[in-house]
Amino acid sequence: MTIVTLRVNGASHEVDIDPATPLLYVLRNDLELRGPRFGCGLGQCGVCTIIVDGAAVRSCTIPASQVSGEITTLEGLSTNGMLDPLQQAWIDEQVPQCGYCQNGQIMTAKALLNQNPNPTDIEIRTGMEGALCRCMTYYRIQAAIKRVVQGAVVSATPETDQGADV
Ligand code: FES
Ligand code: FES
Repeated sequence: MTIVTLRVNGASHEVDIDPATPLLYVLRNDLELRGPRFGCGLGQCGVCTIIVDGAAVRSCTIPASQVSGEITTLEGLSTNGMLDPLQQAWIDEQVPQCGYCQNGQIMTAKALLNQNPNPTDIEIRTGMEGALCRCMTYYRIQAAIKRVVQGAVVSATPETDQGADV
């Protein structure tokens, strides 16, 4: 076991873990952040996606002890009690169906817009590749991202009205 310090959603956390423990397990089990989900555990489905220093990372395959950057989870997207525009656009477009994949969809979209704030339709599709949805919500995901790109998010909703797991 070893003490690892993680910066998550603007706060510093020390955890005593096996150095091989995947970051996803630490986020969910030690820090009780349930935005990132467990799916394949193999880096192939995207439901565990979080952001490290602005880029999307599959948290199921990276050991927590190897992460030194600023981690953002779904819970960290809202600021000052208001939803991130992407979360609001997800609501406006009624994107989720079962919802299981949606953490990965939103976090992948956030990283995409971090790197390219004005993507074309093809760039959105390419950037979202690998974030799998068994409910086939891809068209609504695309529409929600385009809302943000076009500045067409309808309303800003207090986070407390929707919960962090949107
Ligand atoms: S659970 Fe991490 S990519 Fe599937
Ligand atoms: S909404 Fe069900 S898996 Fe994507």
